[in-house]
Amino acid sequence: MNLDINNSQKKRKWTVYGTVLVLTSIATLVVSWLLITIFEHKEEAKNPYLKLVNVSEETTDPQYWGMNWAREYDGYKRTVEPSKTNFGGGDAVTPHEKAETYPWLTRMFAGYAFSLDYRDRRGHAYMLLDQEKTRRVTEKPQTGACLHCHTSVMPTYRRLGDGNTDWEKIVSGFSKLGAMPYQLAHEEVVKTGSNNPMTGGGAQKFEHEEGSHPVSCVDCHDPKSMQLRVTRPGFILGIQALANSNEPVPHLPSIEQWRKGDRHEAYNPNVDASRQEMRSYVCGQCHVEYYCGPKTTLFFPWNNGLKVEEIESMYDQYKFPDGHRFFDWKHQETGAELLKAQHPEFETWSQGIHARSGVACADCHMPYLREGAMKVSDHWVRSPLLMINRSCQTCHPYDESQLKARVATIQNRNFELLQRSGAALTDLLNAINQAKKDGASDAQIHDAQELQRKAQWRLDFVAAENSMGFHAPQESARILGESIDYARQGQILATQWQKNTQ
Ligand code: HEC
Ligand code: HEC
Ligand code: HEC
Ligand code: HEC
Ligand code: HEC
Repeated sequence: MNLDINNSQKKRKWTVYGTVLVLTSIATLVVSWLLITIFEHKEEAKNPYLKLVNVSEETTDPQYWGMNWAREYDGYKRTVEPSKTNFGGGDAVTPHEKAETYPWLTRMFAGYAFSLDYRDRRGHAYMLLDQEKTRRVTEKPQTGACLHCHTSVMPTYRRLGDGNTDWEKIVSGFSKLGAMPYQLAHEEVVKTGSNNPMTGGGAQKFEHEEGSHPVSCVDCHDPKSMQLRVTRPGFILGIQALANSNEPVPHLPSIEQWRKGDRHEAYNPNVDASRQEMRSYVCGQCHVEYYCGPKTTLFFPWNNGLKVEEIESMYDQYKFPDGHRFFDWKHQETGAELLKAQHPEFETWSQGIHARSGVACADCHMPYLREGAMKVSDHWVRSPLLMINRSCQTCHPYDESQLKARVATIQNRNFELLQRSGAALTDLLNAINQAKKDGASDAQIHDAQELQRKAQWRLDFVAAENSMGFHAPQESARILGESIDYARQGQILATQWQKNTQ
């Protein structure tokens, strides 16, 4: 019995000891786990880029970068999703032909590939696919220069280029690839592929079957430090030309600063620019006006400045190697030598109040996203109107509906003015055609054709810009006002040569 009592007392004692032991072990585990996580978080804060995989300049496949930076990669991948807004965004299936919204576009582009197929933009994930598929590429000869902004192309430039320094190789490869027919150049990019750091990929180990990718992490980030950087030679040469000009650029203070120096070394955005400027420069690698055709190497026309008439003056001064004045194509109806504008987002933003106030592309299009303790830049690059709370309300303390209404007012006014410009241009085309029919000579028509060049360049500059006036409302209205004026002046001139008015 006693024994029994002792035994049961002992048992109770041991149960107590056991429980205490288990509890202390759990407590110890919890405390150590806490300490470890705190330590890890501290380490993360010290070095947020603990790399699991060693990415390099040749890692154009974003999935490997995604192993290190999963949050940014998750956002990046979402660019396949639809993002439609009233005037912006894109569909996931087939983007609309622009001519459905602007019927006058088809005649404006008569005789040019853009009259065949010209669609709304959509998410970054589609950029290479949409280029491969457009009838502008499948039915017209294009060059490898098109790839500069539609794929992760830098390793191919390096592989094909000659030179002693990295930059020399890049510039040489850029002009070589750019001069090739599109399909051949595309094959070269596929041949380069991406290196695979998982298989111990040395710099030159490429996975050929991987093909090529749209804009990738390596295009905006240094693989060693993850710092923002620009890679595209078109942008670097263009921004250097701008720096060398006298055009005031108060929204780009590092250029103004560089101009005050001895100019011994060329302006280098990757060294001279501020972090805030880089948050726009990375986008300016592609969202710009450019020349890309068979006659000369791709260039950004910024030698005289970024405004519509400054770019026009550069084109007017520019001579092709054959000595002829610059033009993109001859209008099929009127014979005018014309300029085609391409998505001048960087240039238009440059004229707006946001640029002047130091607000970068990434502030609105890649706003911060809170994920647990981390602040992450949203790599689902898309219309800010789909995330007004993060894109706008950080600076503007108005409710969402009010901000939406402000944007709608700006965009609707711009849209109405665009349609009026389109109508004025159509009247000009009709007047020139009629004058020609009535026997007006080329010399007589010439001045009207020159006015068509000016009117069309301005109209296209605003139509091809993707914010429907938002990036710089007053500037866009000024440009459209000039366009309408030039079109009507041309119409009056051409009408003089029509029979019924003589
Ligand atoms: C102050 C905020 C702001 C800044 C700064 C800004 N944007 Fe925008 N952007 C907008 C808004 C608003 C729209 C209109 C979106 C819509 O209509 O859905 C837009 C439209 C666009 C579009 C078309 C988007 C789509 O979904 O169709 C592109 C491309 C674009 N911006 C690029 C840029 C680039 C490049 C820069 C910098 C050079 C820039 N933006 C700077 C607010 C901004
Ligand atoms: C390598 C060139 C390149 C760079 C760099 C680039 N873009 Fe784009 N962007 C494109 C192309 C090409 C498209 C159109 C893709 C298509 O329609 O298939 C596009 C589309 C877009 C769209 C429309 C998205 C949608 O959902 O409709 C926005 C907004 C945009 N870009 C903003 C930016 C911003 C902001 C940056 C800088 C952070 C940037 N882009 C950097 C080439 C680029
Ligand atoms: C300087 C950079 C750049 C170059 C060079 C470039 N693109 Fe683009 N492209 C863009 C950007 C940015 C967009 C998205 C904005 C837009 O659609 O207006 C785009 C959109 C497109 C689209 C989708 C919308 C459309 O126009 O139907 C196609 C297709 C396209 N480009 C084809 C081409 C072809 C073909 C070439 C060569 C002749 C070319 N691109 C050269 C930057 C570039
Ligand atoms: C078109 C340019 C562009 C591309 C492509 C791009 N990024 Fe970024 N990334 C940015 C910008 C802009 C920031 C903000 C940087 C800053 O403010 O210093 C950023 C920030 C980051 C940061 C810093 C932390 C943060 O979220 O702000 C990481 C990490 C990052 N990106 C990873 C990636 C990865 C991974 C990819 C490819 C899947 C990628 N980025 C593709 C432009 C780009
Ligand atoms: C980083 C700060 C910042 C962000 C983000 C920002 N803005 Fe602004 N915005 C400004 C500043 C600064 C001005 C200049 C006027 C002022 O001081 O209020 C301005 C001016 C404006 C104006 C008057 C524009 C004009 O041309 O008269 C509108 C409209 C506007 N913002 C809308 C927006 C919308 C919509 C968004 C989001 C897509 C946005 N802003 C994002 C700072 C910002």
